[in-house]
Amino acid sequence: MKSPIHIAVSGAAGQISYSLLFRLAAGALFGPDQPIILHLLEITPALPALEGVVMELKDCVNPVLHGIVVTDDPKVAFKDTDYVFLVGARPRGPGMERNDLLEVNAHIFSTQGRALNEVASRDVKVLVTGNPANTNALIALKNAPNLKPENFSAMSRLDHNRAINQLAEKCGVLSADVKNVIIWGNHSTTQFPDITHAKVKDQEALSLVEKSWFINDFIPTIQQRGAVVIKARGLSSAASAAKAAVDQMSNWVKGTKAGEWVSMGVLSDGSYGITEDLMFSFPVTVTDGKVSIVKGLIIDEFSRERMRLSELELKEEKATIMHLI
Ligand code: NAD
Ligand code: LMR
Repeated sequence: MKSPIHIAVSGAAGQISYSLLFRLAAGALFGPDQPIILHLLEITPALPALEGVVMELKDCVNPVLHGIVVTDDPKVAFKDTDYVFLVGARPRGPGMERNDLLEVNAHIFSTQGRALNEVASRDVKVLVTGNPANTNALIALKNAPNLKPENFSAMSRLDHNRAINQLAEKCGVLSADVKNVIIWGNHSTTQFPDITHAKVKDQEALSLVEKSWFINDFIPTIQQRGAVVIKARGLSSAASAAKAAVDQMSNWVKGTKAGEWVSMGVLSDGSYGITEDLMFSFPVTVTDGKVSIVKGLIIDEFSRERMRLSELELKEEKATIMHLI
């Protein structure tokens, strides 16, 4: 019997976790032969609701779920954890931008960054989903100086998956036929969803769709998708966010396929002229758990301008939270 892998999830009584936890308990990350122990973190008032989720997790009798830790203390939640999903944070409502949440959510990530620094496994992989995800990830990373920056990523996989879906629908193909879309920048309306390098059934995507569709339809659809879901559902996206979190962590753990990349928010190393020390979504490949930014893509003026806008927004966000890092 393999020894269990410890996975922590914050915001465990929330909407996203209500989908994420059941995927994890069913073996979505490590398969049917790898036991896991879930560490569930919530704020104190949400612990009674979390008890209900725990009852349901147990009633699913998933064979890989070997234990559940429930706590309102980040140091208990993150103790010796190998994989951490930082989901717990307030979602936006209609009419808000994600960075309107910075003030209410930022302190969560400084506290949790410090706790990770103290008690998590030194090789922990921390995926930040709570919004604004990129800057929250930067806060967590900067509050964990004894962990490597590579231990942290921000979630841009939902945008990446949305881009795949839009392009597949436009071309009348399956999502599996679409490869190498890119999300550049922030998980916000300034993000640049890019199909310049994408392939559809091994053909250049831009040879199959009109440039005007790319610019006037595709880009704003991806940029606004979160708000449109909120308008329709009255709540922010949850099941698709949980799936994206599993996808991003899964690639981080198991690697990317040969010749393919995925989008991940990682600490900028200056690639493509993006200011260092921002959590910026880049195309990345992963081998043996090591994330590498894809280098050498040709960036045209149109793309560069859009990447700059998102970089500028991330710099502004960073300026507002300097006291926390
Ligand atoms: P939710 O309100 O349903 O759940 C959030 C949970 O977090 C609540 O149960 C709350 O009690 C808990 N929480 C708050 N502060 C906490 C803390 N300090 N420690 C632990 N738990 C805490 O929200 P949701 O729909 O699950 O969304 C969670 C976050 O994810 C939001 O910020 C949302 O905007 C964001 N989100 C990001 C993406 C993305 O692509 N990056 C996608 C969807 C949602
Ligand atoms: C999303 O993209 O669906 C989430 O970030 C929620 C939101 O606020 O849009």
